[in-house]
Amino acid sequence: MVGMSQLISTTLSSPASPACPFQRCRRSQATAPRRLRAGRPAVISCESGPSERVDRREVLLGLGGMCAAGGLGVGRRGDALALPIQAPNLSECQTSGTSSGNNCCPPYSATILDYKFTPTGKLRVRRPAHKVDEAYLAKYKKAVELMRALPADDPRSFVQQANVHCAYCDGAYDQVGFPGLELQVHESWLFFPFHRLYLHFHERILGKLIGDDSFALPFWNWDAPDGMILPRIYTDPSSSLYDPLRNPAHQPPEVLDMDLDDGDAPTRQKQIERNLSLMYRQMVSNAKTTPLFMGLPYRAGGNLKPGAGSMENSPHSSIHIWVGDPSQPDGEDMGTFYAAGRDPIFYAHHANVDRMWQVWKKLSPRNVDFTDRDWLDTSFLFYDEDARLVRVKVRDCLEPEKLGFTYQEVDIPWIKKRATPRATPTSESSSTSSSPPSRKKRRAKLLKSAGGAVTFPLTLSSVACITVKRPKVSRSQTDKDKEEETLVVEGIEFNPKNRLKFDVYVDDTDAGEVKPDDSEFAGSFINVPHGRNHDKKKKMEPVTTTLRLGITDLLEDLKLDDDDEVLVTLIPRKGKGKIKIGGIRIELSS
Ligand code: C2O
Repeated sequence: MVGMSQLISTTLSSPASPACPFQRCRRSQATAPRRLRAGRPAVISCESGPSERVDRREVLLGLGGMCAAGGLGVGRRGDALALPIQAPNLSECQTSGTSSGNNCCPPYSATILDYKFTPTGKLRVRRPAHKVDEAYLAKYKKAVELMRALPADDPRSFVQQANVHCAYCDGAYDQVGFPGLELQVHESWLFFPFHRLYLHFHERILGKLIGDDSFALPFWNWDAPDGMILPRIYTDPSSSLYDPLRNPAHQPPEVLDMDLDDGDAPTRQKQIERNLSLMYRQMVSNAKTTPLFMGLPYRAGGNLKPGAGSMENSPHSSIHIWVGDPSQPDGEDMGTFYAAGRDPIFYAHHANVDRMWQVWKKLSPRNVDFTDRDWLDTSFLFYDEDARLVRVKVRDCLEPEKLGFTYQEVDIPWIKKRATPRATPTSESSSTSSSPPSRKKRRAKLLKSAGGAVTFPLTLSSVACITVKRPKVSRSQTDKDKEEETLVVEGIEFNPKNRLKFDVYVDDTDAGEVKPDDSEFAGSFINVPHGRNHDKKKKMEPVTTTLRLGITDLLEDLKLDDDDEVLVTLIPRKGKGKIKIGGIRIELSS
């Protein structure tokens, strides 16, 4: 919980300012964000005009090395001239690349096949992990046991399967054509397709090991109340599904906390309610456009980690951290990307993340996949069930049925769980001296008495409040359907090896404890430790990313549609003082 004493000072380079009424924050107009610092290396465009689209591939395949040789990448994020990210070159995998110093390079094969998806007729049906029967469980345990028993240098062995994730997530590969520029599958539009394909091959290998071509992974149905505990099938120490490196305090029947809130101890029912509201926010309110849900574009030569989508931040990342063992250096296994795949629960967790992609597409006709060719043609390498190295493209994984699997239909219990305002809005006119002041008055008072300038970049060591101008007020429903009002927290600079979380509230005029079932809760940024550190003597370099939060629903709930600015509060939860913020603004996005 954020204690009041921690709330007062922000590390702002502002003159002393009167404390706000709730001693919570200082206020200023958000200054124009400074030009975002590029990640490493500096991004400099090699092309000079649109006519060079064709040449660009040459650049990538050959001359790109020259362009990159000076430590420069090619292309800008969002650059219309960019090209898809290519599958990594396994022969150049960097064995000491990870934050742990762990070698996670897979065995190397010079022969690469372009993978053909061959559905076997019978769909693999993924079922909720808490509802599987004994016969299925026996098969699943046997398959993982056999996978664990494969020789360590077999790319299908359990340890190598975990390494696949490690290599793509912890900086073992450079982008092809861009020496020194790390390839990263998190915090961008590659998050969903990479993990879908990764699970696809993992599942087929397990099935092959037990001679069952309809074998399917289970999914951890954490979005439903009876699935909101660590599934019991993973907790038997004598089973192949067990992993000793998990948080001992989070064993069944402890309810999952998707918000990683160590602040209070809600009742079981309250925790479930908060989780359901968080699900609604991440799947609906915060997922009105494709990039808001799936993450931002990441193209060849572009900086890694342009920005995660709603599902990736939470609950995906929060569940990683919730499961991992806090007594381990990096929260191993699930709490850090290099080791996450060593816990069999990883695959059930990601099966549900993947299921959410499917669920989202069915929620609204507006929820559609990217059609951008740079996304569709991004490719990855995996080993298949016959240990062949195969190249697959994003465009091949958009429909689970085409990959031969599907999800059992289950309830969507969060679909009506939209958050409600924490402070009951009081009618403006009925406000008398004895009744509490209206929200509008409270906000006006807060804004009036707060002063001082928040200067960016801002080191987030305690709570910070900023008023942010809205580009347009009183928008019609048609406007809202066309464009989502989006709060952009940009230039988030952090060291990826740290476990980090900060929350964003809007119009928290009571300076109270806002929870995920309150409308004021706009969302969170969460970092699961990962990243490369080739030179052990040097500190890992910081990277930057962006957090984008859809706030149209929130503004409606809080009756702020007509206000021309809003009060935004940033609350560091994990890693105080270890995150810098480049700027905050509101834009309309589609
Ligand atoms: Cu690649 Cu859940 O992480």
